[in-house]
Amino acid sequence: MTRLHVVTGKGGTGKTTVAAALALALAEEGRRTLLVEVEGRQGIAQLFETEALPYEERKIAVSHGGGEVYALAIDPEKALLDYLQMFYKLGSAGRALKKLGAIDFATTIAPGLRDVLLTGKACEAVRRKDKQGRRIYDAVVMDAPPTGRVTRFLGVNEEVAGLAKAGPVHHQAQAVMGVIKSPETAVHLVTLLEEMPVQETVDGVRELRAAGLPVGSVLVNMVRPRLPVEGLEGTPASPGLARALAGAGLSRPETLVAPLLAQAREHTERVRLERGQRAALERLGTPVHELGLLGEGVELAGLYGLSAELREQWPPTEAA
Ligand SMILES: Nc1ncnc2c1ncn2[C@@H]1O[C@H](COP(=O)(O)OP(=O)(O)OP(=O)(O)O)[C@@H](O)[C@H]1O
Ligand SMILES: [Mg+2]
Repeated sequence: MTRLHVVTGKGGTGKTTVAAALALALAEEGRRTLLVEVEGRQGIAQLFETEALPYEERKIAVSHGGGEVYALAIDPEKALLDYLQMFYKLGSAGRALKKLGAIDFATTIAPGLRDVLLTGKACEAVRRKDKQGRRIYDAVVMDAPPTGRVTRFLGVNEEVAGLAKAGPVHHQAQAVMGVIKSPETAVHLVTLLEEMPVQETVDGVRELRAAGLPVGSVLVNMVRPRLPVEGLEGTPASPGLARALAGAGLSRPETLVAPLLAQAREHTERVRLERGQRAALERLGTPVHELGLLGEGVELAGLYGLSAELREQWPPTEAA
């Protein structure tokens, strides 16, 4: 069963929104999920209309049937202090390092180190258990970096494990990769039905697979409703259309004919292009789920709507 859901995709396609909807969808009936953010942009707080998240797991929403969604914005600096504390018991010394700005310095000069800390913290939440040995979270959903960076991001601990051949850092790095490369993890890719994001999805899936990372689903976001296009395939004859409009009681129907036909052609063309993009996604051989375009933008109610759409399409074994 998947416990770590990593949500990536081209910038602006809806990663943060879809990750939040997924966390809600997986938090069914008493289950508990954690939604983590790694890019330090407070996108989750904005989406749930709450104040900025501290570096602390907080309940931000109650889901269908009383499930709970917690959220965490992982701060690399604080995560490094955790890490130093865990391995070197550097309690106050760690705080001294922070005062000196050493931690900021370390995470700035070594972007790889940031990623080690971010993925490490997410995996720690996945593995965390209570005193009875039960998992604290049924699932962790990560609002991850975009497709172009995600393979490197997720694989960074492999490099670390190779560099530190033994000792606590080596073991920690191996434990993190153990989670990320296991069937407990699924990397989902958010896309739109447009050429660029679909191409990026196809490339991303190839890259993830080449790196031995587990690809989950493709989530097509902002899908626009389709008219029954079959009837529009052949352009209707203008005189017939004018007569029909007149019959419907419209005055001066001839002025409407050209704009209506133009709209119909545009729609037909879009549906044709989308059909091509859908086919390219189908060829990837992963499950494909679709989320509708919300006309009014994504308010909290819209987010719950998207989560319901996901619940309907998500494989029941996944959500069980
Ligand atoms: N299904 C949808 N219907 C309508 N609007 C949507 C939908 N999904 C996302 N949006 C809107 O699209 C915009 C981008 O969404 P979001 O911030 O989730 O994308 P992102 O991929 O996380 O972006 P970034 O790359 O900047 O992190 C937001 O304004 C969001 O409200
Ligand atoms: Mg985002």
